[in-house]
Amino acid sequence: MRFKTLLVHLENDISIITIDRPKKLNALNKETISELHHAIKESDANKNVRAIILTGNGEKAFVAGADISEFSDFDVQQAAQLSREGQMLLFDFIENLSTPVIAAVNGFALGGGLELAMAAHFRVASDNARMGLPEVSLGVIPGYGGTQRLAQLIGKGRALEMIMTAQMIDASKAEQWGLVNAITPQEELLAYCISLAEKMKRNGPLAISAAIKSVNANFDKSINGYDIEISEFAKCFGSKDFKEGTTAFLEKRKANFLGE
Ligand code: COA
Repeated sequence: MRFKTLLVHLENDISIITIDRPKKLNALNKETISELHHAIKESDANKNVRAIILTGNGEKAFVAGADISEFSDFDVQQAAQLSREGQMLLFDFIENLSTPVIAAVNGFALGGGLELAMAAHFRVASDNARMGLPEVSLGVIPGYGGTQRLAQLIGKGRALEMIMTAQMIDASKAEQWGLVNAITPQEELLAYCISLAEKMKRNGPLAISAAIKSVNANFDKSINGYDIEISEFAKCFGSKDFKEGTTAFLEKRKANFLGE
């Protein structure tokens, strides 16, 4: 499928999805959200894709937020729909995807941009990256899961400080606070994320999906994460990947996982 606002590139079983609206600092409009949903769904459905990297085009921005021009005249009902649809189509969708998603934060990640990065399974930032949830400066709050995921990732006090002051933090503070896992020079960001994806590729894809599901279960108050872990752990034993992984270890060779 061809996209108007994205570039999608498959390289060694890693799908690199680049948001491509650099003149608007890759701001997320309705079309971009819908295209991201389809591109990610397509990558997830492709058994050869073992990891997805999300990034932004240009040197300045990952994503500078939801497209403010699109919602400035919305009423209460339209706002609820925007938030609900966006969470379902993109943010919750990414968080619960079975294929691992890494956000390569190559510049500004603000508002919906930081929310997008936080929906990914983890984040790496370039040294010029700046992150924030500045929505209260527009008289609104984050609506794509930001109030929930920021507090999960960096704790309530720091999350509220960032949200209430609307201030950006730089890459080094983001790393110190656990919002990003590592920082690289901008020109090395993609290569570093690819190297992490390559490490994941050596491991059982079904086990990786089970790990995502089990870790996410910790943040869902309606379910017991330990119970999910038990059932996901047990399910692995029924997979060919588990037989292959344990056999390869005992035979002192590299496992060849097929995701079955
Ligand atoms: N929505 C819509 N358009 C956006 C945008 C957004 N979230 N962020 C940036 N843009 C557009 C600007 O309107 C501008 O478009 P124009 O050239 O047609 O006027 C273009 O992207 C470049 O942005 P500009 O503001 O000129 O760049 P800058 O280097 O001066 O400032 C930022 C960069 C990121 C500090 C600034 O763009 C900004 O504050 N953006 C909004 C951030 C925000 O509040 N996000 C949360 C939204 S919920």
